[in-house]
Amino acid sequence: MSSVAVIGSQWGDEGKGKIVDWLSNRADIVVRFQGGHNAGHTLVVGETVYKLSLLPSGVVQGKPSVIGNGVVVDPWALLAEISRLGDQGIKIGPDLLILAENACLILPLHRDLDAARERQAGLAQIGTTQRGIGPAYEDKVGRRAIRVCDLADPEALDWKINRLLAHHNALRRGLTLPEVDVSALRASLLSIAPQILAFAQPAWWVLDSARRAGKRILFEGAQGSWLDIDHGTYPYVTSSNTVAGQAASGSGLGPSAIGYVLGLVKAYTTRVGEGPFPTELHDDDGRKLGEIGKEFGVVTGRARRCGWFDAALVRQSAALSGMHGLALTKLDVLDGFETLKICTGYRIGERMLDRIPASARDQQALTPVYEQMQGWRDTTRGARSWRDLPAAAIKYVRRVEELTATPVALLSTSPEREDVILVRDPFQPGG
Ligand code: IMP
Repeated sequence: MSSVAVIGSQWGDEGKGKIVDWLSNRADIVVRFQGGHNAGHTLVVGETVYKLSLLPSGVVQGKPSVIGNGVVVDPWALLAEISRLGDQGIKIGPDLLILAENACLILPLHRDLDAARERQAGLAQIGTTQRGIGPAYEDKVGRRAIRVCDLADPEALDWKINRLLAHHNALRRGLTLPEVDVSALRASLLSIAPQILAFAQPAWWVLDSARRAGKRILFEGAQGSWLDIDHGTYPYVTSSNTVAGQAASGSGLGPSAIGYVLGLVKAYTTRVGEGPFPTELHDDDGRKLGEIGKEFGVVTGRARRCGWFDAALVRQSAALSGMHGLALTKLDVLDGFETLKICTGYRIGERMLDRIPASARDQQALTPVYEQMQGWRDTTRGARSWRDLPAAAIKYVRRVEELTATPVALLSTSPEREDVILVRDPFQPGG
């Protein structure tokens, strides 16, 4: 039995929600392994639109879903999301949702710090989602975070809160934010503890048992490879590893549990927030991509920056995650463009590059090298087989495969759950 990791190959927003929803139909259990409620996964099922931030997309299919230890969890946001989905008819109890007992919590003080830093950064802003993600990971690595299991031990919680606040209140004084009161934080954590602890389990053990029983596990990545804390466009990145290796450590399963790595890739490129974006367009084509592709953030509502498909960038993502195949999404957004461009590499002055360099200054200086392709007039929207695609669209897909050195396994042609062309089933790649 195979397991599949779904990884964003660009800067997030590649359409993971729909593909994970589609794949979770074939999976037995779905696990999130990094990030937090900065993610925004949209699922369209018939007339109903589900917007998920923290919950694994499997919950919509009624599949057991795990929030792994690599995720930072805002417990209030989690309860609000569970309640929101409850209003849409999806009941989420401890039989459906498993929360890693060793996951670290995001607290209101993390949100405050995220927002205060962004305010003070001026032009050096990262453009974060202001959900407190970065500060929460800092506390995790700084070994002073409050974890899910701490909610079960009020005595230990006291000194942990004291240790955390010794750090944060010093920072807050410097930022002219009011200090956080120990007993108020303690009381608010203990008031939600029973609801949160109801979901807490050793997630690694649940997943290991599932693996041993031959269950199909779907690892649901959030954000994208170029927001990875190590490999992304640092410092304009998120604070977790978003590449496939994190699926193992962020869930508590070894790397051998991941059978197939599926790279999610949009047929063009988008980015939210600040940072380098070599193929960004500031013209009518860019505006058209944004309008047709409805490129607004699920979490923050911000307009996304849009540009041509960057094959060099995706080739690098495929290498960083050992991708076996790609799921190409939003091909239909390119319908009606007379000509299309694909970036095959870059130039800095006279120097030619076939990959993204590590230095932020070099990244900002990249000029894309394009090849031009003919567009297509007919629609690809809703196509469910190659026969439904115009010849020029097939040529575009084939060129994406060649330039990224990765085959397309799935093609998504509309937001609807069933509008997919399946080339190779990631759960049965040999079958
Ligand atoms: P943070 O994750 O909120 O710290 O934000 C850091 C950077 O990652 C910002 O540029 C955000 O716009 C970006 N980011 C975070 N989550 C997502 C996502 O789910 N999709 C796209 N961009 C994201």
